[in-house]
Amino acid sequence: TEIRATNITWHSGHVSRTEREALLGQKGMTIWFTGLSGSGKSTLAFTLEHALLGRGRLAYVLDGDNIRHGLNKNLGFSAADREENIRRIGEVARLYADTGVIAITSFISPYRADRDRVRQLHREVGLPFVEVLVDVPIAVCESRDPKGLYRKAREALAAGHGLGFTGIDDPYEAPEAPEIVLRNDILTPQEATAQVLRYLDVDAA
Ligand code: PPS
Repeated sequence: TEIRATNITWHSGHVSRTEREALLGQKGMTIWFTGLSGSGKSTLAFTLEHALLGRGRLAYVLDGDNIRHGLNKNLGFSAADREENIRRIGEVARLYADTGVIAITSFISPYRADRDRVRQLHREVGLPFVEVLVDVPIAVCESRDPKGLYRKAREALAAGHGLGFTGIDDPYEAPEAPEIVLRNDILTPQEATAQVLRYLDVDAA
């Protein structure tokens, strides 16, 4: 990968991740939700964050509200921008996880190669990466259509100028071997969250 700056040196700190984790009494990791618009990723991410805090674990959600309105507000939905969106989020999640925090991300992250790069970033430094497929048939997402975007995408397509909306006229590449699959059209948010807590071996009761 290209590094544009010159004369930069990597400084390693005086405190190790192990020491930070001992202080926090937990292990840092990234829990990466992926799924279609309207599949319920954000609700699950926030429900999980709340459940973890309630069990004494420090977790923090990265989602559109704090990323696409801030760090990534200069990015749109072209393939290149989605790739850059996920690249930056992956780097930020890794930084959080390195502090000992449980980073929870909630983005469509439609392209397999982009998610796999984030997985690799974590693997390189020995941080767990837990990919969670929020698996809801597109017909269900489209019937929910909480923001009216599927309807807009269909109308635009019919009018001959597609929006490049995920699942309609832009691809969603589901993970082939996610750590967790949540059938979020069948489960309640509480049931889905309990499934993640069980995987993490955190008291799900
Ligand atoms: S991505 O693909 O991971 O970079 O997307 P993400 O950052 O998760 O942003 C998805 C939300 O942006 C809205 N939106 C679109 N989604 C898909 N395709 C297009 N073209 C698009 N334009 C806007 C949409 O509301 C997504 O919200 P969620 O929360 O996923 O429903």
